[in-house]
Amino acid sequence: MRDFDPEETTLRRAWDENAGAWVRWARAGHDSFWRFHGRRFLELVPPPGRLTVDIGAGEGRLGRALISQGHRVVAVDSSFALASAAASHAGPQPAVVGNAAALPLRPGCADLAVAFMSLQDVDDLVGAVSEVAGLLAPGARLCMAVVHPLNSAGRFEGEREDREAPFVIRGSYLATHRYRDDAERDGVAMTFHSEHRPLEAYGWALEQAGLAIDAIREVTEEDPTDRWSRLPLFLHLRAVATRSE
Ligand SMILES: C[S@@+](CC[C@H](N)C(=O)[O-])C[C@H]1O[C@@H](n2cnc3c(N)ncnc32)[C@H](O)[C@@H]1O
Repeated sequence: MRDFDPEETTLRRAWDENAGAWVRWARAGHDSFWRFHGRRFLELVPPPGRLTVDIGAGEGRLGRALISQGHRVVAVDSSFALASAAASHAGPQPAVVGNAAALPLRPGCADLAVAFMSLQDVDDLVGAVSEVAGLLAPGARLCMAVVHPLNSAGRFEGEREDREAPFVIRGSYLATHRYRDDAERDGVAMTFHSEHRPLEAYGWALEQAGLAIDAIREVTEEDPTDRWSRLPLFLHLRAVATRSE
């Protein structure tokens, strides 16, 4: 994991440039989504209603899981290639190309928005959460998962197998910074571009948008021998819309 200069590229462009790799990665079935993360997220999701909007939907794997549970889903992603991949999958879903911070959807159209592992990757968090809130009538919910701010603030030192390895934060937990992570698993390579934000940044964005948190989960590895069973990998939040716009 290493920092990159925000002048270099936007997160939106970086994700679009890595769209092909993301489709291969997300469909390889080897990452935490398939092992436990998707299931843990779905535990927070309310039953199907009128419309569920998936923000930063990628190639559509969460939307397909929600459709299988009876949700009517519209996928939104800023990458044309990824929105096309969601729409053209054998289990297709309606998909729209759009920036989460300027959503091309009717205000109040949804009773549920989901943002699975996308809000740490948007350039404008406050703008995106405000736009999402605009889709939701009072009582409607946003369910979101992000890289846990503790995870993106530091790293384990020492051998991967060492369950007791120290976790070290160099620099400031409180300062936002952009980083890229070059990953490789089972011969599939992927470069992630994200922004580290402290917990307060997510709380602030929700507060500004009139979204009140009603559930929080800190998600760890399930294997007790893994060092990531000691610290949270992911943060899951569910929030309820309190405002009528
Ligand atoms: C880690 S991927 C997650 C994809 C999907 N939710 C999943 O878990 O399979 C992050 C996604 O956010 C999308 N994204 C980044 N910035 C965005 C923005 N401003 N508006 C909409 N989508 C965005 C990327 O194109 C990418 O598909």
